[in-house]
Amino acid sequence: MNILKNVAIALAASAAFAVVSGSAYAEDKGVVGISLPDKTESRWITDGKSMVEALKAKGYTADLQYANYDVPTQVNQVENMLAKGVKALIIAPIDGKTFSDALALAQKRHIKVISYDRLISQTKDVDYYATFDNYGVGVLQGQSIVTAWQKSGSKTPYNIEIFGGSSDDNNAHMVYAGGMSVLKPYIDSGKFIIRSKQVAFDKVATRNWDGATAQSRMDNLLSAFYGKDHLDAVWTPNDAIAIGVISSLKGVGYGSPQQVMAVVTGQDADVQNIKAIIRGDQTTTVFKDTRKLASVTADMVDDALTGKTVAVNDTKSYNNGAKIVPTYLVKPILVDKANYQSELVTSGYYTQAQVK
Ligand code: BGC
Repeated sequence: MNILKNVAIALAASAAFAVVSGSAYAEDKGVVGISLPDKTESRWITDGKSMVEALKAKGYTADLQYANYDVPTQVNQVENMLAKGVKALIIAPIDGKTFSDALALAQKRHIKVISYDRLISQTKDVDYYATFDNYGVGVLQGQSIVTAWQKSGSKTPYNIEIFGGSSDDNNAHMVYAGGMSVLKPYIDSGKFIIRSKQVAFDKVATRNWDGATAQSRMDNLLSAFYGKDHLDAVWTPNDAIAIGVISSLKGVGYGSPQQVMAVVTGQDADVQNIKAIIRGDQTTTVFKDTRKLASVTADMVDDALTGKTVAVNDTKSYNNGAKIVPTYLVKPILVDKANYQSELVTSGYYTQAQVK
């Protein structure tokens, strides 16, 4: 990777800018670069907004950039932030393995690196990790399928299908492991049947957590395995995938008086999914309060830069292949029709108008 050349070019560009404006960035406690994967899911927009505010409250200017789910774009953005002289980097990687060169340079310059929500892997040059309990997210999703099954009379066999997240995202593997810890005993005992037999993570993964990709896989599963049989539940690992799965199910008549909707799980409490929960198309989602994660992350940045002790609450779960990254885990919350109002509206995460 030609990072030194890129950095040199960007440095020259920022030096030229400095001649004109005096400085590439405004004078304050310094600039913090934030690199997020994409804007198509509302959660990353809320993450960005909350982090900019939390950093501002502590005296920092944020340089927030989105990488349009393109790995080279994200690497470039991070290299340019380094060249412009950021004090810290907050990165939610598209592909966790792609940052080792850039971060080696960050380390040399004593720039603090925080892995945000997703783990940066294969490098020791990452200082801290702020995320939600991803294994716990999967456990909540698995439990919500078991609860729905019990509420509907525990009929056997209960037909389920499984979707996974993106294989280049460590979170996808953690969520899968958490959900499997709950569902496997039911699958092994034959109470839950997966008619497609597609269970292993590599068989069910969805590249870039893409809803359209999930929709076409669901279309194929429905036509190949559920001609006569009713699909009772779909374990979907996040809200983007849930939207694709719901469209597919509705396309063949699920959610009508003749054919009840399948149980569908999710993650992120995206606005469109809360609406789907209110309509009865989606059963649950997992709310991860990005305001809390943003505030934890801003504290990490400030404490690390000012030499204070950085608060972490997990020092064993997140081995990134080069080291165990000290982590702060925020607790995820299961949301359904019964509690979305208190968790999301009363708490001020969404206005009533947004979810109507
Ligand atoms: C995040 C999820 C998100 C997914 C797709 C994961 O790394 O933890 O909240 O739904 O990426 O963006």
